[in-house]
Amino acid sequence: MCGIFSTISLDTNVKNLVVEGLKKLEYRGYDSFGISLIQNNKIKNFKSTGEIPSDPSKIEFEASGSIAIGHTRWATHGGVNTANAHPHLSQNQQYAIVHNGIIENYTKLKQELIQEHNYQFHSETDTEVIVAYFQILKENLATKQALQTLCKKLQGRYSFIILDNNTQELILARQGSPLIIGVPKDETSIFIASDVPAFVKYTQNVIYLDDNQGAILKLADQKIQSHYFDLDTLTEIQKRIIKVEINPEETELGEHPHFMIKEIWEQKDSIRKALEQDLSTLKQFVEKFNEAEKIIFIGCGTAHKVAICTQYLFAKLTKKITLHEISSELKHQKNILYSKTIVVAISQSGETAETLEAIELAKKHGCFTTCITNVRESSLDRNCDLSLFIKAGTEKAVASTKATTGQMAIGSLLAFACADRLNEGKFLLSNTGALINDMLNPRYEDKISQLAKELRYAQNMYIIGKGANYPIALESAIKLQEVTYIHAEGFAGGELKHGPLALITKQTPVLVIASNDDCFQEIISNAIEIKSRGGYIIGISPVNNEAFDYWLKVPEAGLDSPIINLIPIQILAYHISVLKDNNPDKPRNLAKSVTVK
Ligand code: AGP
Ligand code: GLU
Repeated sequence: MCGIFSTISLDTNVKNLVVEGLKKLEYRGYDSFGISLIQNNKIKNFKSTGEIPSDPSKIEFEASGSIAIGHTRWATHGGVNTANAHPHLSQNQQYAIVHNGIIENYTKLKQELIQEHNYQFHSETDTEVIVAYFQILKENLATKQALQTLCKKLQGRYSFIILDNNTQELILARQGSPLIIGVPKDETSIFIASDVPAFVKYTQNVIYLDDNQGAILKLADQKIQSHYFDLDTLTEIQKRIIKVEINPEETELGEHPHFMIKEIWEQKDSIRKALEQDLSTLKQFVEKFNEAEKIIFIGCGTAHKVAICTQYLFAKLTKKITLHEISSELKHQKNILYSKTIVVAISQSGETAETLEAIELAKKHGCFTTCITNVRESSLDRNCDLSLFIKAGTEKAVASTKATTGQMAIGSLLAFACADRLNEGKFLLSNTGALINDMLNPRYEDKISQLAKELRYAQNMYIIGKGANYPIALESAIKLQEVTYIHAEGFAGGELKHGPLALITKQTPVLVIASNDDCFQEIISNAIEIKSRGGYIIGISPVNNEAFDYWLKVPEAGLDSPIINLIPIQILAYHISVLKDNNPDKPRNLAKSVTVK
């Protein structure tokens, strides 16, 4: 969701650098883009809807300079058009802004600006009020004070960068949305972006701006100068430089046609990586779990499905009271949040607005907060009391695959650890990793791609599962919806006859997830009920059954079966997507990192 990329450099032509940075952020999802650059003491602005051309010379923007801001917009306020694309210029043309997030009280601020300052707006966005107010405040205040007063006026979650033509500075503020500063050692350039892959090719040394912090960056005496400060007190802050563990190559496609299939194949190794956990952190988790009255697993979308799956595993292996909840729904259950509650937030990006907000709420109510995330130093990691990392490497495809199974692996590890059976859990996971490694081979993928050819014209698809495979049915539906645009829904097998069975007509494809466990006979009975009404049954199971019209074999993995069962469905969704000429990496209307509510 939205990408900010900005730079100052001794190099006097940073346009191509900004285009390259924005291209690296494309995976987050966007509908328009733009760049502002200072040339000869004037801000030059370019905005366009649609995709960023791979060749920067195709962008009709003849400008050069050494300080610039760039943006990929995922519209929240105002339609997708050039006027609403960022950067937005202030009325006096001295300031330009790129912004990620939402200003919740922008209507009120806009009215004030129009009525009291006769300010003229040129877009429908909430963003433009920020730069408008900044211009007004700068008439009487120094930059830091203007920024402080401005941020006090703004409500919502946001991060922004203002390019100041008068002082040739970049002015940064953060409240809830990520802003990361890349600081190359030679101090001759600096990068600011919404995510590290945008500049990791140039530096792995980063500074994370925290909430309620501001910064002013500029070029002086052939060096970059940067000041970080607290937005409440305006006192200087010494920021820590952190070396990020991202291999620049891992963010490239390599030999794969899409990131989604690249990341599906990376599951050959990702379970093993998830297993490499720091034992003392695991121990701390278990201690906290043992002290707690209840544990609530939360997440959004796919991460919430992992939360349900983890809850099933805890219920199977331990006597702890565990619940699951969609992050954005936790606020409607405030009364059950108190000091003896542990909230475990699950999030690939660690930047999902609703999950961050749920954690803030849980903290306010005295809960101990923990997370399972893929991104070290993400806002979630920094806001929680304790974190576990899935170590899956950068996930770029909007449809989560390797991060999902990595999160499930950690969930399994935690449940076994909490049941005092950690070694057994580790052994099972290591075996599961090896099974996935064997399973992911070209022949297996080819078999699934043949099935994709049969299913590509389906209007509806249903998926059923029971027990810990019920959330897998729900997650499978998300995968199919995201990349194939086929209407897909997941159900608990037992629920069919209470309504959804009415949807089954001749040849309706139904994926039946049938692990070799205590749910097997019941889910097969459900499959037969569907088959009797004309449904076409695709069994995902280690064993064949006469109820199946098509059998997708999966290895036997005991309590870790849900992890394995997901993989053929990810491959199926990918191949249907490609056959339908969709872009599996960038599903329509969706964004990778959902940093707005
Ligand atoms: C996954 O395929 C989806 N794109 C989406 O549901 C995602 O899982 C959700 O937005 C949560 O993201 P997070 O894990 O980064 O918090
Ligand atoms: N709310 C702003 C807009 O609609 C920013 C959206 C974004 O984060 O891309 O322009």
